[in-house]
Amino acid sequence: MLEYARGNVPDYQMAAFAMAVFFRGLDGAETFALTDAMVRSGETIDLHAAIGRKVVDKHSTGGVGDKTSLAVGPIVAACGVPFGKMSGRGLGHTGGTLDKLESIPGFRVELTTDEFLQQVRDVGLAIIGQSANLVPADKLLYGLRDVTATVDNVSLIAASIMSKKIAAGADAIVLDVKVGDGAFMKTIEDARELAELMLELGRHAGREVACVLTDMDQPLGHAVGNALEIRETLATLRGEGPADFTELVLSASARLLAFSDLGVDEAAGRERADAAARDGSALAMYEGWIVAQGGDPAEDALPTASVVRDVEAPRAGYVNAIGAVDVGMAALRLGAGRQTKDDDIDHAVGVLCLKKRSDSVDTGETIAQVHAQDEESAARAAEEVVAAYTFADDPPAPTPIVLETIG
Ligand code: URA
Repeated sequence: MLEYARGNVPDYQMAAFAMAVFFRGLDGAETFALTDAMVRSGETIDLHAAIGRKVVDKHSTGGVGDKTSLAVGPIVAACGVPFGKMSGRGLGHTGGTLDKLESIPGFRVELTTDEFLQQVRDVGLAIIGQSANLVPADKLLYGLRDVTATVDNVSLIAASIMSKKIAAGADAIVLDVKVGDGAFMKTIEDARELAELMLELGRHAGREVACVLTDMDQPLGHAVGNALEIRETLATLRGEGPADFTELVLSASARLLAFSDLGVDEAAGRERADAAARDGSALAMYEGWIVAQGGDPAEDALPTASVVRDVEAPRAGYVNAIGAVDVGMAALRLGAGRQTKDDDIDHAVGVLCLKKRSDSVDTGETIAQVHAQDEESAARAAEEVVAAYTFADDPPAPTPIVLETIG
């Protein structure tokens, strides 16, 4: 992998390797060896030594409306636990964590490793773009997997995610493995397999790891789209967030606090996280963090779309399902995501799914809102969003946001 990152192994060899793994899989020892080789392809950070304390991190396998880190970071840091995270950009659906942060005017995602460490020490929280020298082999290999249709293999996904988490240096990591229509892992069985493999890889590298398997059969929270998701994060840090998103944020935060050096268990962690979201301390931490990275934390500084169009329920009943991918694609076509890696993102646009699964609706009631830059794209997105909803006469059986915790 080091030789590949240095350009001494040609792409065609590596593409053949990825294809072989895709069809034959890797056993446990081979997956450890691949992950280790990927970690050693570039720089590694010892956050514990640099900060002088236990540092926690979280990662999500990605989903529609997933802004969890943006709320978990300030909550955990407000509770006194350093949170340092390196993130990627999104390709497809909506933006990634960095794109969401870049909807904040002035916010800098590109900090040097030294600036990153200094900020985690001084402020308690930093979320930045992954340094180019952190697991360079993954960046190259991921690009190859993308164009050779070999992304979807559990060993390659686990090695890719865990090599970056291990190299980034946190002592304890909570991994949010999304399950469902809007996720890589479509079934709970596949999600479990990925979670267990990532747990083993983390433990092998001496890290404490827990996986939460969470529902991605409908968008998370209401907001899908970059600035809209920052607004929803702010609401959640004021204790006014949507129920499913708030629950996920609080349970991930509780787990991270239980991992930390505060010496609390998960139940006490949950109480502290909840208090931080209610007493203004998480919001104050958010503001300090955004300012430290050059951004304007005021909600009214965020960009707004020119056209806001309500989407109405075509019938009365209960929301039975909301296709996460369909809503994600509607947001993408509005400009909230990238179709190719060089596309620009429009931070203002997106979709608010105001009614969620099991909510009752009347005919003509507003179920969603489209934020667009012109009437034509708003009308198209509104049609796509209404088509993503299905309705029934009775409410569907409730599904919790956290399906399972492993580790
Ligand atoms: N996310 C990653 O970082 N790598 C993968 O292979 C899949 C999802």
